[in-house]
Formats: sequence, C-alpha cells, structure tokens
Amino acid sequence: MPLKAELHCHIEGAAAPELVIRQAQKYGKDTSPYIQDGSFVWHDFTSFLAAYDFSSDLFRTEEDYARLADHYLTSLARDGAIYSEIFTSPDHAGKAGLSPKAYTDALGEGMTRAKAKTGIEGRMIVTGVRNAGVESIEQAARFAARCGHPLVTGFGVAGDERMGDLEDYVRAFEIAREAGLGITVHAGELMGWESVEAALDHIRPSRIGHGVRAIENPDLIRRVADEGVVLECCPSSNIALKVFDSFADHPFPALLAAGCKVTLNSDDPPYFRTSLKREYDIAAEHFSMNDKALAAVTRTAINAAFVDKKTKAMLLGRLDGKSR
Ligand code: ADE
Ligand code: ZN
Repeated sequence: MPLKAELHCHIEGAAAPELVIRQAQKYGKDTSPYIQDGSFVWHDFTSFLAAYDFSSDLFRTEEDYARLADHYLTSLARDGAIYSEIFTSPDHAGKAGLSPKAYTDALGEGMTRAKAKTGIEGRMIVTGVRNAGVESIEQAARFAARCGHPLVTGFGVAGDERMGDLEDYVRAFEIAREAGLGITVHAGELMGWESVEAALDHIRPSRIGHGVRAIENPDLIRRVADEGVVLECCPSSNIALKVFDSFADHPFPALLAAGCKVTLNSDDPPYFRTSLKREYDIAAEHFSMNDKALAAVTRTAINAAFVDKKTKAMLLGRLDGKSR
C-alpha cells in the first residue's frame, strides 16, 4: 500500500453519516432530509452545501470536534496516510455556538489524540467561506494570523466560487501571508480557467484547491507548471459535482503530463462516496498510475505541505523508508 498524504479535506465534510446521525440524536434533530439509507443526499452544489451546513451544525461542543478530528485522522492513518491537512471553518463553529479558539483547540486535541495512536502528523488550514461574505473571511484571516495555535499553519478560502470576486479577498490573504501562514484558495472547480488565472494574479497562492479547470487554457497550464503552483486535485468530488463527466474525462493525467504539480485528495469524503485511499485506487485504475507514480504524488504533497522544515524532512524520510 503506498504511503499517502492529504492536503485538501474539509473537516466538517469528513463526518461520516453514522457519526452525523449520532450527533443528530444527541441534539434531537431529524436527519431524514439529508441522510437516507446511510448516505448523504444532495443533487447539485447548492444542495450539497445545504447538507454540509446541516451536518456541520450538529458539531457543537469541544468534545464533538475533538472526536471528529480524531475519528477522521485515525481512519486516514489506517489507510496509509502519514500526513493530513484539514480545512477548518470557524464560521461554521460560530453558528453552532463555539468560539474560533475553542473550536481550533478542540480540533487540535483530536489531531493530537490521533497522532498518539497512529503517528499521523496533522496541521490545520483556517478557511473563510465565500458564501459568508468578505467581512467573515477577513475575520477568519485575522483569527488565523493571531491564534498562535502550533498546528494552524495555513489560510484558505472555500465555499461557493460563484459568489464574490477573488479580488475581494486580497486583504484577507495579505493578513494571513504577513503572519507567515501558507496560502491556498479554491478556484477552477465550479468556475472556469479564468478563476485560476485570477487566483494566480491576485492571491499568489502556493497551492490551489482543485484548479483543475486550468485544463481549459493551454497557456494557463504552462503558467501553473512554470510557477510550480500545486493543484489539490479531488477527482471523485469533481465527478460527483459534475465538473467532469467521468474519470476518463478528468484532467489529472494531462495536468501531470504537462508538468503541473498535482496531489490527490478527498475533499468531503462521505458526500462523494470516497476516501483518500479510494482516490489513490482511482488514480491507479483510471489514470494508470503505479505505486512509484503514486509515491511521487505523496512526495509532491509533502513538499507542498504547510509544515516546518524538520517535520517535512521527517515525513520525506518516512516516504523513503528511512524511519517510521
Ligand atoms: N466546502 C466544502 N467542500 C467544498 C468544495 N468542494 N468546494 C468549495 N467549498 C467547499
Ligand atoms: Zn474543497
């Protein structure tokens, strides 16, 4: 089994339906509009976000979040992952009544528990949510910049790409950059290649969440490759959300062949009936990647990780089989 690393997973979106049902029972909520026959139900990006927001609202206490992070990272480690970055969303936690600090500390506690059991290293990327507006995104950036949590190492923007302009978020990203945080932004998922170009022009991230619609413009593919920007690709998410029709149509192999740095990620695994392990299996089956090629993808992810040099060297050592 190839060793794996994940850079792009929304922690609220990683909650399995069974866990969400348990949380709903705890808080006396009816899950039937959003979970049927043990699976999340949604039919487009808007209804996906509605199911996602419903489930997120069922994580309310510090222990709820600690358990969620522990549960997810432990399952990742069992599937061969040595490193995980999770997107956090203080905005969602705020709606559920928890302060950004309490929420972040709780997720950090869960990650620490998972590491103690499995050795998996984890870091957090605080995200602002586009559909929550510019002020909320800047507030998330200010929190990320000043929280001082040792596992918070990045800042990003997620949510509905169809809302707002990337230029609106420049100030938020500058706050995060000045604080020394790594920068990633969702683009080129729901919106076309122009959104990837706008991200490069205005945000200057080292990584792009998805970015796969760069494939629509050959000049832009070259720019992504030349600038060494890392694409956090999430094939199953793209197929489920109908960004591409099938794995055969997915641009992962073409982007890799064009010299772009690509990684494999699960995004919101149970919503897209996937896992990080399944993304690697899909790459093997549909993108003809052997274990050596998959190990190279893991190496790309670790090299692009928002993690200190010493930890990065340790992770690369594990990948090379030098230590456990
Ligand atoms: N938030 C959670 N999942 C997302 C996705 N796939 N795209 C944008 N925002 C998200
Ligand atoms: Zn995402």
